[in-house]
Amino acid sequence: MADLDVVLEHVDKTFAGETRAVIDFTAEFERGEFVAMLGPSGCGKTTTLRMIGGLEEVTAGRIYIAGQDVTDLPPSHRDTSMMFQSFALFPHRTVFQNVEFSLKMQGLDRDARHRRVWEMVEMVGLSELASRRPSDLSGGQQQRVALARALISRPTVLLLDEPLGSLDYNLRQTMMVELKKIQQETGITFIMVTHSQQEAMSMADKVIVMSDAMIQQIGTSREIHENPRNRFVADFIGNNNLFRGTIRSRSGSVVFVESDTQLYYVKIPEHIRQVRPGSEAYFSVRADLMHTGEQPNMANKVMGSYIATEFMGTLETDVFEIEPGHFVHVEQHRHLSDRVYQVGERETVCWAADSGVLLEATRRPEDLEVA
Ligand SMILES: Nc1ncnc2c1ncn2[C@@H]1O[C@H](COP(=O)(O)OP(=O)(O)O)[C@@H](O)[C@H]1O
Ligand SMILES: [Mg+2]
Repeated sequence: MADLDVVLEHVDKTFAGETRAVIDFTAEFERGEFVAMLGPSGCGKTTTLRMIGGLEEVTAGRIYIAGQDVTDLPPSHRDTSMMFQSFALFPHRTVFQNVEFSLKMQGLDRDARHRRVWEMVEMVGLSELASRRPSDLSGGQQQRVALARALISRPTVLLLDEPLGSLDYNLRQTMMVELKKIQQETGITFIMVTHSQQEAMSMADKVIVMSDAMIQQIGTSREIHENPRNRFVADFIGNNNLFRGTIRSRSGSVVFVESDTQLYYVKIPEHIRQVRPGSEAYFSVRADLMHTGEQPNMANKVMGSYIATEFMGTLETDVFEIEPGHFVHVEQHRHLSDRVYQVGERETVCWAADSGVLLEATRRPEDLEVA
C-alpha cells in the first residue's frame, strides 16, 4: 500500500432510523491524486468524506490512511484536514489570524508564519481583506478564508466538501484553476465532494460517480466520458443520448439492437462479457459523436424532426425528435454556411457503429443482497 494514501474497504454507513447512506464503498486513492466524488444530492458523498476524516463512524468496513488502519481513530489522529461546507471561521479573528492559526499551533516562528500566510492569502485573492473579520466578508470570501485555513497546515489528505459551491460563476472558474494548481504544487491528496460535473471533470485525476449510496463508476474524466458504464452514469454525465431496444444478435465486438422502428449497431465495451439475444438493452451515444445529414461510413441512421437549437458559443446542440417523446441531441460546431433548420423539418441523424456504448443496469442496493 506504499503509494496509496487512502483506502476504503467495503465501507457501509447506516444512520439510526435505517437510512443507508453509504453501501459497500471500496476505493483506493493514490498519493498526490485529485479525486472527486460526484453525484446528486443525498447519494452519500458527504457521509463518505466525513468517515474518511473520522467525523463519522463507519457501520462496517475498514479505512486506511498512509497504510495505517484508522477506522477506529479520532480525527485528531488522522493526517487529514477538512474544509467544511459551513465555514466554521473564528468570528473574532481577522482573515490573517484565521489562516495563521494552525501554524501558530504548530509553533512555527513568526517570520515563517507570516511568509506562508501572505502567500496563501494572496493565492486565494484575499490580500486586500487580510485585516477584516469574517462578518465583514461576503459568503464567497469567507469560503476562500476557509480554503486557505485548511491548506495552510499542508495535511497529507485534504477533504473538501463542495468547496466552490457558494462562489459565483466567474470566481468559481478562477478558483477551479487555482485549486488544481495548489493541489499540484503541494502534492497533497485532494478528495473533493461535488454535485457539479464540470468541477469534477475539469479538476480531478479520478472521478468516483455515486448514486443511491453506491459507487456507480470509478475512472478518469475521459474514461467516464467515453465509456459510461451504466444507465445512471450515461444519464448523469455529459451530453449523452440514451436508447432502448432488444438485443438481436452479436457480431464480434458489435451487437445489433432493435427498437420498434430501427436496427442499431452498438459497441460492446470490454467489461461486458455476455449479451443475451432477446433481452432488453440500453445504450448511449455522445451528442458530439452524432452528425446531421447523410454521412458516409456511418452505420447508424435515423430520421428526426427538428425541434430546437441550444447555443454555447460556436458550439450548437440541435434537438431532433426521432420517435414521439424521444429526443436526440446533436452537438456540432456551427459554420456560417451551415443549413438553418425550420421547426418540424425532417433530417437524417447518423453516427458510427462504435459510437454507441452498450450499458449495464444502474447498481442498486438490492443487487448486493442477492449476491
Ligand atoms: N446525521 C445523519 N442522520 C441521519 N441521516 C443522515 C445524516 N447525515 C446524512 N444522512 C442521510 O444520509 C444520506 C446521504 O447524505 P449525504 O452524505 O449528506 O449526501 P450528499 O453529501 O451526497 O448530498 C441522505 O439520505 C441523508 O439524509
Ligand atoms: Mg453533501
